Amino acid sequence: MASSRVIDIADLSLTFETNDGPVHALSNVSLGVEKGDFISLIGPSGCGKTTLLRVIADLEHPTDGSISIHGMTPEEARLKRAYGYVFQAPALYPWRTIGKNIALPLEILGYSKEERAERVRKGLDLVNLTGFENKFPWQLSGGMQQRASIARALSFDPELLLMDEPFGALDEIVRDKLNEQLLRLWEKTQKTVVFVTHSIPEAVFLSTKIVVMSPRPGKIHGQSRAARIARGAFLCRLRVAHADVTLVRQDSACLRRLGDPRCVLVFGFDLSEWRYATRCLREC
Ligand SMILES: Nc1ncnc2c1ncn2[C@@H]1O[C@H](COP(=O)(O)OP(=O)(O)O)[C@@H](O)[C@H]1O
Ligand SMILES: [Mg+2]
Repeated sequence: MASSRVIDIADLSLTFETNDGPVHALSNVSLGVEKGDFISLIGPSGCGKTTLLRVIADLEHPTDGSISIHGMTPEEARLKRAYGYVFQAPALYPWRTIGKNIALPLEILGYSKEERAERVRKGLDLVNLTGFENKFPWQLSGGMQQRASIARALSFDPELLLMDEPFGALDEIVRDKLNEQLLRLWEKTQKTVVFVTHSIPEAVFLSTKIVVMSPRPGKIHGQSRAARIARGAFLCRLRVAHADVTLVRQDSACLRRLGDPRCVLVFGFDLSEWRYATRCLREC
């Protein structure tokens, strides 16, 4: 398989049949993810981000369209353990220690005891949980539990990492730190990451490509390549319909360099600015 295409999604739709009638969660979504991409899916709550990630992971099945992962069906990819998945909630087994939770995929994959111990040690170190190996999940804070679940998803070194708002429940300091660690890890390993967030700063900080999803039914609204253009400054150019929209983070030098009337300037990225930015996107 010479292609660098990791995920190929074409015209994918998903409708949930519920007692209250059909819920159109995704509508004609097309998306290509290349090897080494760090893609963030952003968009308002309920727009189908989790559903799209779950389709990639074979946890939901599309009602229409096609999807392949490394040329395989999602089911084949799941059986081959082609990806690690980090859920919004930690989802650790309460009867297993943290170390044994992290080791679980390795046990299933038949790693030796020594290899498991080494990988658990590295995983704990990566998420700053060294010393907590023998604790049970309920003895850790929610944030620490989530870090353990990240270590578990990375334990078997999958090439593709699917992350659903993994840091959403963490305090900002821990979140920033984990974002930096994740970025370093990604730079080092060149893994392919699909990351769901509703945070613009997180998406801009982490991603090579940002996919903006519109409110339900989830459609892909715009895609951008994010590029770091100066220290502490990030530029991401969103191509939406026929207009280029640029979100720029707090760096006056780079703003001056841009001088583009269609720039959307986003300072600090708080919620009102997110609303402002998305409104501008809609108006394009
Ligand atoms: N299993 C399900 N059955 C019915 N509706 C669902 C199911 N899962 C998600 N939905 C609906 O699909 C829409 C998209 O949900 P979701 O993908 O979780 O959004 P997001 O992650 O962007 O917040 C929402 O309206 C949600 O209520
Ligand atoms: Mg979600």
